[in-house]
Amino acid sequence: MRVLSGIQPTGNLHLGNYLGAIRNWVKMQDEMDADSQCFFFLADMHSITVHEAREQRIRNVRDMAAALVAAGIDPDRSVLFNQARVPAHAELCWLLNGTARIGWLNRMTQFKDKAGKDREGASVGLFVYPVLQAADILAYNATHVPVGEDQKQHLELARDIAAKFNSDFGVDLFTLPDPIIPKESARIMSLRDGSAKMSKSDPSDMSRINLTDDDDAIMAKVKKAKSDQEMLPETAASLTDRPEARNLVGILATLTGRTPDAVCAEFAGRGFGAFKPALGEVLVETLRPIRQRFLELRTDDAALDAILDKGAAKAAAAAEPTLRAAYDAMGLMR
Ligand code: TYM
Repeated sequence: MRVLSGIQPTGNLHLGNYLGAIRNWVKMQDEMDADSQCFFFLADMHSITVHEAREQRIRNVRDMAAALVAAGIDPDRSVLFNQARVPAHAELCWLLNGTARIGWLNRMTQFKDKAGKDREGASVGLFVYPVLQAADILAYNATHVPVGEDQKQHLELARDIAAKFNSDFGVDLFTLPDPIIPKESARIMSLRDGSAKMSKSDPSDMSRINLTDDDDAIMAKVKKAKSDQEMLPETAASLTDRPEARNLVGILATLTGRTPDAVCAEFAGRGFGAFKPALGEVLVETLRPIRQRFLELRTDDAALDAILDKGAAKAAAAAEPTLRAAYDAMGLMR
């Protein structure tokens, strides 16, 4: 089993990232047996699709490295690195650009969302972004890729690229990766709008809970979260047309390891005046230790850089045989 996943180091780690992906990364790392390996990386090469000042970019990588370690990624057990330190990602991306089809990329909903109305003005990087993501995964022959729901289409594309490359060049080189998407928390929604996903790029900070928010900020955001005037029902099935309520119930269920039905049963007949403080309390208790550890780690740049250097060396060695075989399959002399 080879587990691999990535996160863009832009903005803070938020509750959507944590519940949708990072918690699963930690779980898979902790349950790993001796034959398995976990690779987790900061997708800084992907983040160039958004303009950022040099110093900010450098800070972002250290911030996200500290956040992942604080959330439970152990750099001695998992390979933790940033993409830019491992050239195999960019190299394999270029090779796979010969395999990926424009029609496939045209169908990517994230490109359409991010490019918005001005498609002609979007960077080429934004368009080929999913090919780099395929390279990230295929370079390591990852078998399991823990992600939130929004990455499912990119994972399907990685499988298509792998299958076409193998078939075009008559090799059995790339493994087709399986997405691992959590059941309850695959799509955590904005606290201000139950139809939009919680995201780093939402201009309103009230829409998300950041790993760096202190106890008061977390509680205030939960109390101000959009909800409705109705009581909570006996079962979660009745929440279908109440997106905000469904989201808040889902968050509490995930945090406490229960089903949304069990959460509804506890609060049935009561309103959000009772529910929100309970949710806020659990969030505060869950995030406080992670935040404290993050703040400690963030005081030592050199230690974070050393973690990333060590991870990059391991990652480069792991990717090299597949990269070499890909050049060879294509008849490119390296
Ligand atoms: P990114 O940085 O947008 O998000 C990191 C992870 O967090 C998940 N996520 C969410 N899950 C549930 N609810 C939400 N509101 C929410 N917001 C984010 C994402 O699904 C993701 O798992 N393209 C990727 C990074 C990447 C990658 C890869 C992932 C680059 N190469 C290779 C896997 C494998 C991205 O931008 O994730």
